[in-house]
Amino acid sequence: MLAIIGGSGLARLPILEVTHRQVVRTPYGDPSCALTFGRIGQQNVVFIARHGYGHSLAPHEINYRANIWALKEQGVKGILSIGSVGGIRPDMGPGALVVPDNIIDYTWGRKHTFFDGPDAPVVHAEFTTPYDSSLRDRLIEAVKASASPAVTAGVYACTQGPRLETAAEILRFERDGADIVGMTGMPEAALAREQNLPYAHLCLVVNWAAGKGGTRTVDFNNTIAEQGMSGVTAVLQALLASHPA
Ligand code: HPA
Repeated sequence: MLAIIGGSGLARLPILEVTHRQVVRTPYGDPSCALTFGRIGQQNVVFIARHGYGHSLAPHEINYRANIWALKEQGVKGILSIGSVGGIRPDMGPGALVVPDNIIDYTWGRKHTFFDGPDAPVVHAEFTTPYDSSLRDRLIEAVKASASPAVTAGVYACTQGPRLETAAEILRFERDGADIVGMTGMPEAALAREQNLPYAHLCLVVNWAAGKGGTRTVDFNNTIAEQGMSGVTAVLQALLASHPA
């Protein structure tokens, strides 16, 4: 079974034929919402809306540990995470889909590890390549099959939010090597790695990052976001049609 974590603009997954929902509790507290189980094509899928079904949780308020733990406990074999981002690199403008291949983490103060507290042994998870290469390959194939305009590598900068960045911060991220910027990719990816869960990220660019042109507001319900999310659903369909989950 594949897990899908939906981000802003994807609190529901219309292509999911829902079988049931389940409220799960974890040693780390409550996940963002109940898990939704169902099928896409012939494949079993479990879906969770990262910000809650009513988009009530800001990026820094999400209980990433509870979300990952809850999915692990259901026996998922991998996690496909969907996120909205701002575009920094010129070929990553609004409407583009990006499958990043690396991460720079600028977040702070989030509960970012399971190896915490007196009873947990210290483990230094290997994180050189934060995304799982075979899940990424499957995702890239699906992106190509769905004919969405897509960039199949890039560095994801994760900021603390919820405010947007200054133009100077974006220039700094760019100098650091970042191509897109979002607020929720970390510690999610690292926690999945700590649980040995293959994890890949599909990002929809909904705006230019600060100072890169376009508007300064991030509107997850604008036309770009809506059209982009139908691109995302097409990718999910292609992904689940082509391989067992
Ligand atoms: N910055 C950070 N996170 C985002 C942005 C942005 O410009 N757009 C969507 N998520």
